[in-house]
Amino acid sequence: MTSVGIDAIEIWTGNLVLDLPNTFAPVKGEDPEKYTKGLGLYTSSFPDVYEDIVTMGANAAKRLMVRKGLTPDDIGRIDVATESAFDNSKPVSTYIAGCLEQVFEGDFRHANKGERKFACIAGTQSLDDAYNWIKAGRNRGRAALVIATDTALYERGDPGEATQGAGAVAMLIDEDPDIVELSTEQGYGSMDETDFLKPNQQFPSVDGKRSMQVYLARMREALEDYESMAGRTRVEDFEYIPFHTPFPGMVRKAALLGFRHMSRDTEIEDKLAEEIGRQPREEQFDTWDEYEEAIRGYMDELKTTDAYREWYDRVIDPTLDISSVVGNWYTGSVHIARTSALKSAAEAGTDMVGKKLLVGSYGSGAQAEIHAETVQENWLDEMDALNIDEQLDARYEISFDEYELIHDVHNHEKEVEVEELTQPEEEFVFTGWGRMNERRYEYVE
Ligand code: CAA
Repeated sequence: MTSVGIDAIEIWTGNLVLDLPNTFAPVKGEDPEKYTKGLGLYTSSFPDVYEDIVTMGANAAKRLMVRKGLTPDDIGRIDVATESAFDNSKPVSTYIAGCLEQVFEGDFRHANKGERKFACIAGTQSLDDAYNWIKAGRNRGRAALVIATDTALYERGDPGEATQGAGAVAMLIDEDPDIVELSTEQGYGSMDETDFLKPNQQFPSVDGKRSMQVYLARMREALEDYESMAGRTRVEDFEYIPFHTPFPGMVRKAALLGFRHMSRDTEIEDKLAEEIGRQPREEQFDTWDEYEEAIRGYMDELKTTDAYREWYDRVIDPTLDISSVVGNWYTGSVHIARTSALKSAAEAGTDMVGKKLLVGSYGSGAQAEIHAETVQENWLDEMDALNIDEQLDARYEISFDEYELIHDVHNHEKEVEVEELTQPEEEFVFTGWGRMNERRYEYVE
């Protein structure tokens, strides 16, 4: 059966950047190391006045289509994943298709367009939809365009404010893909949770500490569910493990749990036993609380071992490079993590063909999903074509006062007139509202 997966990826960052330790922390009266060492974040991307989820998504998609030499006729489906939508009826994909039709010959009349919502996991769900559509043979030779785009803004003063970000990831899903093939096997951990939600409001209501517990619990269930289909996962099976990254500190916690799970009853556990003892087993304890305390003690020791640190530096750390300088992109976040890992492998000259990734997605509310990916022949050309470093370097650094204005500009409840801070060039821009309150866009040369 033909392989299906990700054929191309493009990333588009918001054009502004906020320095967390040097600009944000001092005003908040916080130790800069809370951001760099604690959360693992250095800077965050923000959208300029003329940017939003449509412009960022359309810009990423345009770059992808130009680079791959595609026309609208090659695309049979456009799915946008977002939790920052501004319209409860008309999907963001229609706005993005409208933008693309301004610059490409032809149109997307034939394309099925939709919008996926399940917090941050919607990007991965859209990949799934595209994968299933192609596998079912309904694509008529066409590829699917999946765009994960968000402005991840929190209420001013919310603890989540430190983890904000803005950007889009466009992915082309096709047969015989150039970057990764997706596994048929996948696992879910899904439950009705109240950890992070936006009940008809722009900024989220967040129970931050609980959201972290829910992330870990659902991720563990998803891994066990994946294993029930794909067989046991082992530490040495995967070259990289990209996780949904609301901030790198969250991934540090998930990675430690993952390593403990995958090393259990293996030679790695045997070797570590000489140093820190064996992993506690539930049946050794009278109560669940005692078992949990023992596990916490084991994990505290595990994370200091050379075996764990070497694995973390090699398998997890490279997935966090981009996230640590752009913040949370919600639906795009796990897709940035995958790209970051492959980009790092390209820079290190690692041969990745045939190697496997284990990808852990998460959306609050809550659901985790785990699947594997196999790196394909042309992955290196695709990584070489990325221009994310140039984009990151070109961002305009905002002062705290400018940050406050920009936050207000993108606050749907406020009406503020603010001059743009950067000059758009060869990109789509938001130009204002039309007669039915629709948002309007044009391409700037
Ligand atoms: N030096 C080093 N480390 C420091 C430090 C210092 N001076 N000060 C604090 N830290 C560490 C803390 O120990 C903590 O690390 P641990 O969790 O490992 O102990 C870390 O920095 C963060 O500090 P706090 O816990 O004090 O931070 P906080 O309470 O202000 O906020 C948060 C943390 C609750 C995660 C908040 O950022 C938040 O609410 N974020 C939004 C929700 C979120 O991202 N949740 C993640 C799971 S849900 C999800 O993934 C979906 C999604 O995308 C939103």
